Amino acid sequence: MRLVDKSAPEFLYQQVIDFVEHQEKIGALRAGDKLPSLRKLSRQFEISVPTVKQAYVELERQGTISARPQSGYYLKAKQARTLLPRRAKWASCEPAEISCRSLIEQVYDAVHMPDSVALGISNPVHAHPPDKALARLMRSVLSRVSEKAVSYGPVNGDPKLRLSLACRYQEQGVLVNHDDLIITNGAQEALSIALQCVAERGDVIAVESPCYFGLIELIESLGMKALEVYTSPEDGVCVPELASVIKQHSVKACLFSTAINNPLGSMMTDAQRKNMVELLEANNIPLIEDEVYSDLYFTERRPTSAQLYSEKGLVLTCSSFSKTAAPGYRVGWLLPGLFEEKAKRIKRAQSCSTPMLQQWTLTDYLMSGEYDRHLQVLRKTLRYNCERMRALIAQHFPEQVCISKPQGGSVIWVRCRSHVDTSQFFSQAIKQGVSFAPGEIFSPSGKYKNYMRISFGVQWCERIDEAIQTLGKLVHQYPDA
Ligand SMILES: Cc1ncc(COP(=O)(O)O)c(C=O)c1O
Repeated sequence: MRLVDKSAPEFLYQQVIDFVEHQEKIGALRAGDKLPSLRKLSRQFEISVPTVKQAYVELERQGTISARPQSGYYLKAKQARTLLPRRAKWASCEPAEISCRSLIEQVYDAVHMPDSVALGISNPVHAHPPDKALARLMRSVLSRVSEKAVSYGPVNGDPKLRLSLACRYQEQGVLVNHDDLIITNGAQEALSIALQCVAERGDVIAVESPCYFGLIELIESLGMKALEVYTSPEDGVCVPELASVIKQHSVKACLFSTAINNPLGSMMTDAQRKNMVELLEANNIPLIEDEVYSDLYFTERRPTSAQLYSEKGLVLTCSSFSKTAAPGYRVGWLLPGLFEEKAKRIKRAQSCSTPMLQQWTLTDYLMSGEYDRHLQVLRKTLRYNCERMRALIAQHFPEQVCISKPQGGSVIWVRCRSHVDTSQFFSQAIKQGVSFAPGEIFSPSGKYKNYMRISFGVQWCERIDEAIQTLGKLVHQYPDA
C-alpha cells in the first residue's frame, strides 16, 4: 500500500486523494464500496483526522465519493448515465390488453432454472435472507400450538399480527384499528380483492407505465382493462397528467405504487401523494396503493402511505412480507378503507383464510424487534448492491445505455438504444446462464421493447459480475439498426 510521504511537496490531503484514486484504479476499491473511516485512515497514515476529512470533502466535491448520514463515505459509480424523465417522448395510450404472455411465463420459469443467475425476478430478501431467524421462531411456534397448526384460521387473519401491523400504521399517523385489516395470501391476493371491491369486468384501471407485469396480468384476469399513465423515473405519476387522464377516460380506479415503483424505483414526494389522493377523492375514484416496497427506501425516511391522506375512505392499501422477509410464506394484508364489508366477503369466498403457522411466526418476528433490525440491514445491503450494480452495468454495457437511479427496492431499469429489442436475446441469455426481465412485459401496449429490468436483490459473488458481463456482451452484439 502506498503511504503518505510527509516530506513530499504535495499537500497531505492531496496524497490521500491520490491514495483513494490509486485504490480504485487497482480494483481494491469498487463503486459502492465504503471508504475507510476518517479515524482509521488518520491512524494508518499518522495524519490528522481533519486532513483526511479535507481529502474526502474534495473527493465528494469532484463527484468521486458520496457521504451517507451516520454511515460514512462511499465510492460512487462514475460512468452511469442516469435515466431521465422523457415526457415529450410519451405517446398517450388507450386501455389495452397484454400481448406477451408467453414471455412472462418464460421469465417466471427462468427463476427456477438450476445453475442460472436469476436477475429477472425482484426478490430483495435474497440480498439478506432472514431464513435462520424465521426457522427458529417457527420451531418455537410449533412447539406451542400443537394441533392448532393444522386447523383453519380466522378469515381476517391472526388478531395479534393485525394488531402489530395496525400499530405500525398508527406510528405513521394513519388511524387504523386492527379490525380494519385483512390478512391475505401475499400482496397479490390483497390487490385482487381490492380490485374486485371497486371495479367490475370491462372497467378501466389506470396503472403506472412502466408497471410490474403481475399487476397487468391480474387486471386482465379479472376482465378489466389497464390504462397506462406516464410515470417519471424520478418522482412517479405527475398529478396534472393524472388529472388530464381522468378527464379523457372513464377511469374506474387507479392502481399505483407511489412509494417505490417496480421497475423504475421512482418515488413520489409525500406532498405529491397527498395532492393525488385529494384529486382522486374529489372525483370519487378509488386508489389502490401497492406498498410492497415501501419499507425498502434508500431515502432518509419511509415514504408516507397514501392512506394517511384519505378523507373519504377511497384508498385501499395492499402490502406483504414478500419483499422484506419471506415471499414463500405468502402473507400480505389489505387495508380496505370504505370497502371493508365487501373485502371480507370476497376473502371468505375466495380463499377462506391465510396459513396460520406463517402468520404466528411473523407476529413473533415483529414483536421481538428482530424484523426492524433485519430491515435496517436489508436496506443498507440493497443500497450498496444498487450502487455496485449501476457501476457494473455502466462498465459492461454500451455507453449509450441509461440506467435508473432507484430510490429503493431491488431492481434497476435500463434503457438501450431505441432499435434494440431485449426480448430478442432473452433466450440466448438464458442459454448462457443468466436471466433478466425484458422491458416489453412492463406495458400492456408493448412499450419498452428496448428496456430491461435487472435485479440487485442478490448475494454478491463473482457470478453476478460475470452475469452482467454476459448481458453487456449481448447488448453490444445486437445488430445496428
Ligand atoms: C409491485 C409488486 N406488487 C405486488 C407484488 C406481489 O407481491 P406478493 O408476492 O406479496 O404477492 C410484487 C411481486 O413481485 C410486486 O413487485
